[in-house]
Amino acid sequence: MKRAKLGKILTLFWFLGLATCANVKTFPRDFEFGAATSSYQIEGAWNEDGKGWSMWDHLVRTDPEFIFDNTTGDIAANSYYLYKRDVEMLKELGVDNYRFSISWPRILPYGRPDYVNAYGIAYYNALIDELLANGITPFVTIYHWELPQNLNEQGGWLNGEIVDWFADYARVLYENFGDRVKHWMTINEPHIHCYFGYGTAHHAPRIFSPGIGYYECGRNILLANAKAYRLYDTEFRSSQGGEVGFVVSMEWAIPETNSQDDLEAVQDFMAFNIGQYMDPIFSEKGNYPQRMIDRVQAASLNQGLNASRLRPFTDEEIEFMRGTADFLGLNHYTSRIVYRNESLIGRYHIPSSHDDAYYGEYTDPSWPLDTGFVYEYAPGFYNLMVYIKNTYNNPKIYITENGCSTSTGRNDNQRVQYYRNYLNALLDALAEGVNVKGYFAWSLMDNFEWSFGYTLRFGIYEIDMDDPERTRHPKKSALVYKEIISSRVIDY
Ligand code: NOJ
Repeated sequence: MKRAKLGKILTLFWFLGLATCANVKTFPRDFEFGAATSSYQIEGAWNEDGKGWSMWDHLVRTDPEFIFDNTTGDIAANSYYLYKRDVEMLKELGVDNYRFSISWPRILPYGRPDYVNAYGIAYYNALIDELLANGITPFVTIYHWELPQNLNEQGGWLNGEIVDWFADYARVLYENFGDRVKHWMTINEPHIHCYFGYGTAHHAPRIFSPGIGYYECGRNILLANAKAYRLYDTEFRSSQGGEVGFVVSMEWAIPETNSQDDLEAVQDFMAFNIGQYMDPIFSEKGNYPQRMIDRVQAASLNQGLNASRLRPFTDEEIEFMRGTADFLGLNHYTSRIVYRNESLIGRYHIPSSHDDAYYGEYTDPSWPLDTGFVYEYAPGFYNLMVYIKNTYNNPKIYITENGCSTSTGRNDNQRVQYYRNYLNALLDALAEGVNVKGYFAWSLMDNFEWSFGYTLRFGIYEIDMDDPERTRHPKKSALVYKEIISSRVIDY
């Protein structure tokens, strides 16, 4: 009883604190802080110690001019060699958790488990052990876009066999690391991966198939997640006792006007960008949103096809996918102003690759414009979390990425402001009953920002990519984040 009662009293104090001290907000004791990275973006050592090629290794060699500054992730932040310094930085910050990803081709150079690279296993063992020795909990993403090139050549995410390929790979990770890793995330950001990989062809594997490939990729990702989740559930959970989540990127949509058309455009945005990946896993119905099914069906018939380009799930598949995440990993950066644009329905076009009838732009001048695509609008973060709570029965959430890019080096006041505002919005969401357990800043350090190369810097630690040592220096945001973590307070 005592613990429960004490918990209630502390919660009461927490709410009283919020009520009486209007400009100071406190994080609950059990709220967890962290920082995030991904393997290709930081590791380097792209062909060392037996690592195979990923589709990004292939892309940066075959299509180098496609990366803004003609760079690669060959060395990146060199974390393959500097991981101890990375852990030291996490320790400096005082975070509880570190989210990183495992490179599929570093573990399975050809993608399949008949050949496991012992050096790859040794590297992640060393990183995990170093984290645990320093009291930091690993949160591991199984797939952050590094598909082995060998599997890409066999159709990658467009080949239904990938559901098994992915689960076989996940098994190797559960077997080798699951004694110490208790928080897994299967796949990072299906929408971005499929949209840029197979919709607009701005990311590897650069296949331009917006009306079909984009949907097939998403479909296979949902099934692959389900298979890896169920594998853990049936074979590993009882002995390892961990949890498996799914990471979805979501923006918040604001109607340009209150016209019926624009309000409906927002509904479309929600269906295509959020519901497509959330509903099959987190809703009772366990299928794509009806709105999306109807739109693609209508657009396909309009084009003279005799079936929808969105392949329906069978009843067995729906059953298989439903509930296959113990938590939602929410990646959130920015919001969009959305308006109705009927002329987009059913057209294959860039930048919108689906059958939506909305168009979204980041156009509000009151959101400070920074480099890249992130515009600051913290109320969108709050609204999104409350929307998820209300729409999906208040799932357990970790904010697995949040941050912005700046070009001002260590003096990153804009990022400081961004973090303060977004963390403040998070506290408001907590007070509203949103079940958010933790937060990861993206990113621990400057890194390879995909097709933007090193032109966009999301790190709270700065790295000069011309410095052969890749020395890490805290930016102002790292110091402020550290302060927030230790005081557990945002004063406003
Ligand atoms: C989402 C992705 O998961 C990550 O790889 C990327 O660097 C950040 N957002 C910033 O764009």
